[in-house]
Amino acid sequence: MSRRDPHSFSDLDQGRVTNMDLDLNVNFATSRIEGKATLKLAAPAAGPLDLDTRDLEIKSVADTAGNDLKWELAEKDEVLGTCLRVEMPDGTASLTIDYVTSPEASALQWLEPAQTDGGKHPYLFSQCQAIHARSVIPCQDSPLARFTFTARMTVPEDLTVVMAAAPGQAGEGSQPGTRSFSFEMPQSIPPYLFAFAVGNIVSEDLGPRSRVYTEPETLEKSAWEFADVDKMLLAAEDVFGPYLWDRFDFLVMPGSFPYGGMENPRLTFLTPTLLAGDRSLVNVLAHELAHSWTGNLVTNATMDDFWLNEGFTVWAERRILENLDGKEAKALAAAIGRNGLMEAMESFGMDSPFTQLETDSKGSDPDEFYSLVPYEKGYLFVALLEQTVGRDQFDAFIKKYIKHFSFTSITTAQFEEFLNAEMPGIAGKVRADQWIHQAGLPDNAPVFASERLEMLEGLAKGWSDGTRPEVDQAKEWSPEDWQIFLQALPRSLPEADCAWLDDNFGLTGQGNSEILCNWLLIATASGYEPVFDRVRSFLGDVGRMKYLKPLYTALYEGGKTKEMAREIFAANAGGYHPIARGGIERIMAG
Ligand code: BES
Ligand code: ZN
Repeated sequence: MSRRDPHSFSDLDQGRVTNMDLDLNVNFATSRIEGKATLKLAAPAAGPLDLDTRDLEIKSVADTAGNDLKWELAEKDEVLGTCLRVEMPDGTASLTIDYVTSPEASALQWLEPAQTDGGKHPYLFSQCQAIHARSVIPCQDSPLARFTFTARMTVPEDLTVVMAAAPGQAGEGSQPGTRSFSFEMPQSIPPYLFAFAVGNIVSEDLGPRSRVYTEPETLEKSAWEFADVDKMLLAAEDVFGPYLWDRFDFLVMPGSFPYGGMENPRLTFLTPTLLAGDRSLVNVLAHELAHSWTGNLVTNATMDDFWLNEGFTVWAERRILENLDGKEAKALAAAIGRNGLMEAMESFGMDSPFTQLETDSKGSDPDEFYSLVPYEKGYLFVALLEQTVGRDQFDAFIKKYIKHFSFTSITTAQFEEFLNAEMPGIAGKVRADQWIHQAGLPDNAPVFASERLEMLEGLAKGWSDGTRPEVDQAKEWSPEDWQIFLQALPRSLPEADCAWLDDNFGLTGQGNSEILCNWLLIATASGYEPVFDRVRSFLGDVGRMKYLKPLYTALYEGGKTKEMAREIFAANAGGYHPIARGGIERIMAG
């Protein structure tokens, strides 16, 4: 037996599922999906086949000819879910599993009409990364187990299905009052990239290869915010080589979507908190687009190699930003990233193994150890490699890396081997071993200097001595300027200082969610009561964990706001995605 992924029960030596056919019937009345999954093996196999499931009710398992097969569910593991073991007779080529998902399926959020923009139709979406695909489909839920698929989804006739796959026909469903949508995914994907959404969803074309999907109420704003998607796509192809997923469409989600973005192939999911009205948060779209290469073509083998996905993608995101907006923009973005990195590392402890790039996360829940470390330490490491060998050589290296490993899932060791083969001596020169396998931040981390950055941080650092920004000038600051400035201010300010900031710059009324969140964190930690209503409404509208977690932490740790944290959570928990709810529960248990 060889289980190669600490977060999956699957053993690829037993057989490899390389194609699936899915029939999913969405039942909003019961919050369940009735599923029929046909799993096809790369080659006929015999003996046990271990599959991942989480809270699935298994009805039957049959072979290609329709004969019932023996199966058994093991005891549930809190992190991994439940292993489904099927006994395959000699020559088994495929299995068909009839099953039903749980209303508590960890990948799914079922929204009441009131939780959508339109307020009239229910909505359902999935979020499978890191290990939630198993709550929707019984599968080998490891990034090592890539598969192609075809799917049909049946939903109430007034709703539309979108999927991270190529859309096919839509037509009447087999039950009255239903419609059925078919899809095909011809490129192989790891299970965590399986994704769909169901709701009142419309779309608009933005370029030859891109279209935005969202609810009708959000369409115009979304189309405007992300109008430059085609430019980004061209800039990304410049860095990485050709885009291999045919189309780059994206879906602007309801407010409860727990992430900023999710790189579901052919259909990136985005939080509506990016709709700042000034295109200032489009870096998240660039990030998800960059995953089309680093992540979706070259995929981390397991969550221990997650930095290969995120570190390279943040590097690419900033490279695209530099191409479109220049060096200073990149320096500010890198500085914002570094602030986040230091905070994340300090909260683990600088010598914690979770500050390594390659981790050893067996037994831990990926949702619990999720942090900015793989993103921003990974970014600094990739940027260091780039600086050390020079841009031209590094660009050639990246293109070759992508081409060499396309449509495979690789370990950190495979990356290191490739690095040594392609650029001998460089690993030693940058101390790659220390970066990858040791805790903390090595002292050769690149620093991106910028006069603007120094000016802003200088202003903030002088705050306690009475230094204040020139009001008329600061009103002209860019959103990045504001983020840098707010992040460098003391976390807790006297009431009069909060009032001065808010009166002069209208921070509580900010439409840019990054500025707003940074401000609310300071104001909350300062116990500044005039913002409490805004904190309340923000935590009611938004499900993005990047904002929920620090805000709940600040409330919960604030002397006079602990009770308020409990009360706001009680009022909104039902509207948060299961993953977000779990995250906040952990904060308030501590
Ligand atoms: N793939 C991630 C989101 C993710 C990671 C979901 C791990 C579940 C488990 C996505 O690409 C991402 O990194 N999103 C960021 C955006 C960003 C610009 C760093 C986010 O959600 O904030
Ligand atoms: Zn990412």
